[in-house]
Amino acid sequence: MKKYIFLSGILLSLYSCDSTTYESLEEPEVITGPVTYNANVKSIINSNCIACHASGGTLAPLETYAEVKDAVLNTDLLDRIQRQNGTPGQMPKGGRMSQDKINTILQWSTDGLLEN
Ligand code: HEC
Repeated sequence: MKKYIFLSGILLSLYSCDSTTYESLEEPEVITGPVTYNANVKSIINSNCIACHASGGTLAPLETYAEVKDAVLNTDLLDRIQRQNGTPGQMPKGGRMSQDKINTILQWSTDGLLEN
């Protein structure tokens, strides 16, 4: 539990330093238990990644729990989403996601890449 209180503190301080961007107008996601794929991660991947990473395309698909977990374990997903805009291999290609979303995915990994 302490971990989440601490994380919320970090998120709050990030939001307060960065009040002019569009992203900061979004509600920070409040997560009360371990981060899971179905509850927290799937919607972020769906809206930011699968336009390019759909099943049947040339890139690694990111449409299912197994595919996203595999990308975390084997193709540097966590590293890529943290790279700065303009850095080779940075994802999503169109521009970095909000820190809130990035932190949710990092926390998912810390919590053990749970499905539910
Ligand atoms: C506009 C298209 C686009 C979007 C949106 C996009 N990607 Fe990618 N992604 C690519 C391309 C093109 C490559 C291969 C070239 C490279 O590595 O830069 C790639 C490569 C990757 C790879 C390495 C494995 C592979 O398939 O080659 C991972 C992991 C990845 N992306 C994750 C993500 C994640 C996570 C998101 C969403 C947060 C995302 N991508 C959004 C276009 C995209």
